[in-house]
Amino acid sequence: MKFFVDTAVVAEIKELNYGLLDGVTTNPTLIAKSGRDFKEVIAEIAALVTGPVSAEVASMEFEGMVKEGEHLAKIAPNVVIKLPLTLQGLKACRHFTQAGIKTNVTLCFSANQALLAAKAGATYISPFIGRLDDLNIDGIELIRDIRVIYDNYDFETQILAASIRTANHVKDAAIAGADVATIPPAVIKGLANHLLTDKGLEQFAKDWAATGQKIAA
Ligand code: E4P
Repeated sequence: MKFFVDTAVVAEIKELNYGLLDGVTTNPTLIAKSGRDFKEVIAEIAALVTGPVSAEVASMEFEGMVKEGEHLAKIAPNVVIKLPLTLQGLKACRHFTQAGIKTNVTLCFSANQALLAAKAGATYISPFIGRLDDLNIDGIELIRDIRVIYDNYDFETQILAASIRTANHVKDAAIAGADVATIPPAVIKGLANHLLTDKGLEQFAKDWAATGQKIAA
């Protein structure tokens, strides 16, 4: 499973940019949190990573989405146009797919929505796991359902598990067959943690010190 980092904070991307990251996703909330100019920060991120960088349109109507998306696509070749899962967004998705521009259809909460996005030719579909879990609806079950549907019909749209809140979401999305997970920086870092790793390291350090040896002078 590929890892995208879900942030618009450049320092957070730099901190993890040593082979762990396959791409970046942003959304209007994350841009607002970054306090940066949207187009400027997307350009900076797109230059920093080689993988896809999702930048979301703000318009709700097809014409506006096309205009904004074309503008965003010009920033860098690895910019992916993020569009909402509405009929207008799906129409814009078709437009960009036909123009050879990659798309990420966002705010997906049902298997039927994901089916529509695949039919519109989306590069990525973003089912929001955490926001479903918040409502006591199993977000991972949605990933499983989409996997079955896409495999049944050989759709090429990649499942991008979004709204990831915990390390278990990452593992469960991988088991359910998500192609990609977009993950907040703190959750990515947390994946490396294990109490037994810390305990084992502490013991090794103690035993090594007792030998009085040095590996490098
Ligand atoms: C996905 O592309 C979104 O940016 C993100 O995963 C949403 O996560 P949230 O539900 O924690 O805001």
